Amino acid sequence: MSKKLNILFVASEIVPFAKTGGLADVSGALPKALKELGHNIIVVMPRYYQIDKTKLNHVDGTLGVPMGPMGELWAGVYTSTLPESEVPIYFIDYEQFFGRKGLYEEHGESYIDNDNRFIFLSKASLQLCKMLNFVPDIIHANDWHTAAIPLLMRTRFVHDFANAASILTIHNLQHQGNFFKGGVDVLEIGWDHFNTREFESHDQLNLLKGGIAHADAVTTVSSGYAKEIQTSEFGFGLEHHIQAHSEKLFGILNGVDYDEWSPAIDKYLPQMFDLGDMDGKLTCKRALQKHFGLEERDDTPLLGFVGRFAEQKGIGLISGVIDGLLAQDLQIIILGTGEKWAENYFSEVASRHAGKFGLHVGYSDALAHQIEAGSDMFLMPSLFEPCGLNQIYSLRYGTLPIVRATGGLDDTIENFNEEQMSGNGFKFYDATHEALYHTVMWAVSVYHNNQKAFQTLQKNAMKMHFGWDDAAKSYEDVYRYAIEKHNS
Ligand code: ADP
Ligand code: GLC
Repeated sequence: MSKKLNILFVASEIVPFAKTGGLADVSGALPKALKELGHNIIVVMPRYYQIDKTKLNHVDGTLGVPMGPMGELWAGVYTSTLPESEVPIYFIDYEQFFGRKGLYEEHGESYIDNDNRFIFLSKASLQLCKMLNFVPDIIHANDWHTAAIPLLMRTRFVHDFANAASILTIHNLQHQGNFFKGGVDVLEIGWDHFNTREFESHDQLNLLKGGIAHADAVTTVSSGYAKEIQTSEFGFGLEHHIQAHSEKLFGILNGVDYDEWSPAIDKYLPQMFDLGDMDGKLTCKRALQKHFGLEERDDTPLLGFVGRFAEQKGIGLISGVIDGLLAQDLQIIILGTGEKWAENYFSEVASRHAGKFGLHVGYSDALAHQIEAGSDMFLMPSLFEPCGLNQIYSLRYGTLPIVRATGGLDDTIENFNEEQMSGNGFKFYDATHEALYHTVMWAVSVYHNNQKAFQTLQKNAMKMHFGWDDAAKSYEDVYRYAIEKHNS
């Protein structure tokens, strides 16, 4: 039997403690699946202001974190477990960095010391291992926030982590952690690492770039995205750097936590349902129409959108076609928050199309579940999408995704094929208003004119399974690859 691994998993957000996007879903679920494979895993994140420390256990002692010119900073540590598991999670408590309203920003402005905040998290997680006498075989960092860890293990912290291998998962290449180069001193990695093959990008410190250079293995969250990020269209300037490291790059599709996202057990729904008994889906649709003040009609298709109002999510495409779509016999509900222009624009649309369009600007777990359940179709016309979770949730709720064929959307959604009666959704290729509009109208016409096909697609969708068990095994393989590579 192969050796069980000691794994340190570090992320900036983890459900149910703090979440702005899919990184939190993944970081809450993958460690549990790894634990179920028998590994010994601990998880680390910041103790943000919103995380109530009275519900956590205090760990005795303080953690000294060396921060270059800032000297040694002293952090507190709290602990708990990931829900319904025995995976220990540790929270780094440092008021000056994490005692704020937001995770990364407030009122659309990033915190100006995000470099120090997350270099601090990276170093604190390594110091924590020493404090706990936890000797990792593998350290798993996620996104730019903790991308410095692979090199910290070989420089400032080499004495304690020389035997550990590292892996970096890229959840989104758009966000790279570009900062003033003075951060090199805070990292204490030495200026010889500030060059264009490692941490330098246009005379700035680029944390993700350095992480890609130094990690023993790099993963991203779908096979499609692993290929895309090596091209200029999706590489955000790092395509050549990623090409140079492609031999250690792997694509592993995210799983879904079906304990959270299954219509048969979803506590947010007015009536639960599943493949064998779809009555509840109609109840969910009616409740949603009522909640948003839409005409209460069973026979009109309801399209949902849940997501960040960011260019990535194709909100520019949606805003360009929404008036035209709402002139047809259909309804749309949008839940999201983010770029102000979009919040304002969709608010105007709501006033123009009362009864056909519902909008909730903000963040709501309950509404996210209710929209997944009550909608007939789910809109996800992303310009790029490393994996995307909402389309995978939609499948389980029999809500047919309408997606742009990119990254994880392309990998998970198979286009409707009328002749073979196959597929699980509707896909378009060009990032144009026309392509989106015509694809939505195609889906709507199948809904109105070919209910048999629509129901077949729903069945195909609901039968699909994207469990974390398989994904965790793929991560285990990459961990072993990284360890072997590090040892050779
Ligand atoms: P990304 O991480 O790029 O935002 P994903 O599809 O991977 O995209 O994950 C987004 C996650 O965040 C999903 O769990 C989705 O339900 C959730 N989410 C996004 N916006 C909201 C919102 N306004 N309210 C509730 N949940 C949201
Ligand atoms: C990122 C991506 C999203 C992915 C999520 C979790 O935020 O934008 O596509 O599903 O990370 O990996």
